[in-house]
Amino acid sequence: MTQQKTAARGMGSSVISFPDRGPWGDSKWRGNASGHVYRTLFEQLSPKVFVDPMVGSGTSVEVAREMGIEAYGMDLRDGFNAVSMDILTKVGKHADLIVSHPAYGSMIRYSGPGGMWGDKPHPGDLSHCADDAEFHEKMQAVLLNQRRATRPGGYYGTLIGDWRRGSTYTSYQAEMIARMPSNELAAVIIKMQHNCLSDLKTYGRMKLPKLVHEYLILWEKRGVSAVVLLSGMVKEQTQRVTGTWKNIVRCVLQGLGGKAPLDKLYAAIAAAAPERLATNNFWKEKVRQVLQTHEDTFRNEDRGVWALA
Ligand SMILES: C[S@@+](CC[C@H](N)C(=O)[O-])C[C@H]1O[C@@H](n2cnc3c(N)ncnc32)[C@H](O)[C@@H]1O
Repeated sequence: MTQQKTAARGMGSSVISFPDRGPWGDSKWRGNASGHVYRTLFEQLSPKVFVDPMVGSGTSVEVAREMGIEAYGMDLRDGFNAVSMDILTKVGKHADLIVSHPAYGSMIRYSGPGGMWGDKPHPGDLSHCADDAEFHEKMQAVLLNQRRATRPGGYYGTLIGDWRRGSTYTSYQAEMIARMPSNELAAVIIKMQHNCLSDLKTYGRMKLPKLVHEYLILWEKRGVSAVVLLSGMVKEQTQRVTGTWKNIVRCVLQGLGGKAPLDKLYAAIAAAAPERLATNNFWKEKVRQVLQTHEDTFRNEDRGVWALA
């Protein structure tokens, strides 16, 4: 209880911990969150209208209504697909706060046999994505959907953890932050995890640490038009790709002793990333463009010979 009190005071801090989930929602709904997380979030942000587009057993909405907040909960189980259906249309008004709590990839399957609902897997179920790439893309769509239904100055966010299986580690939160407008990121809160099924497993002598936390990420909707938002997002992604190409060429050139003719540079890049390049017919043009446009980093030494500046 002492720990709980400390944590409850602590939504003002970036780490929260609630060992008790409270009386809200259904503890048997796999992956359910503690109602105290929502309670402290509501105390902090004082929303008048709240939406949870993946409400599961209803934890968030029960807490909200108990606090006198107008709350709307939807879920794929009840026919609402947060990827493809418009939250704003469904709710009929903008919200002050919209928080989703998706399944992490396929760690827990919600629809279909062995899941929480339905007699077969639902094609829209985020817990049945074919791979991480599909999940990342769909969650970006969900967050943009949440954003559109949030009033300017309000908050939208998500509660999600990372996932390690074997040698694969996926940081869903990092992928989401990278896909959303960086100037709207408002808070990244570490939420300690309690009472997970994985707690029952014996981890033996693990080389890497067991994951015991999730993230509550919040963005603040700035009052820009959709066109300004999208052009800003595209610019950010373009800068990332350009910066990545520049660093690949720089790194390969470093490995070649800081100076190399173009054909050697191409061969070294192709050897380092053959699969990626197989899908891009213009990569040699891209390499030349990178060399020619970053005079601060690359220098043309001789005809067809490039060096680090
Ligand atoms: C982690 S659970 C939410 C648990 C909830 N916070 C609670 O405390 O009970 C994730 C939920 O997302 C739902 N879901 C999966 N794909 C969805 C989609 N495309 N749109 C809306 N809900 C979806 C699942 O049915 C499941 O109930």
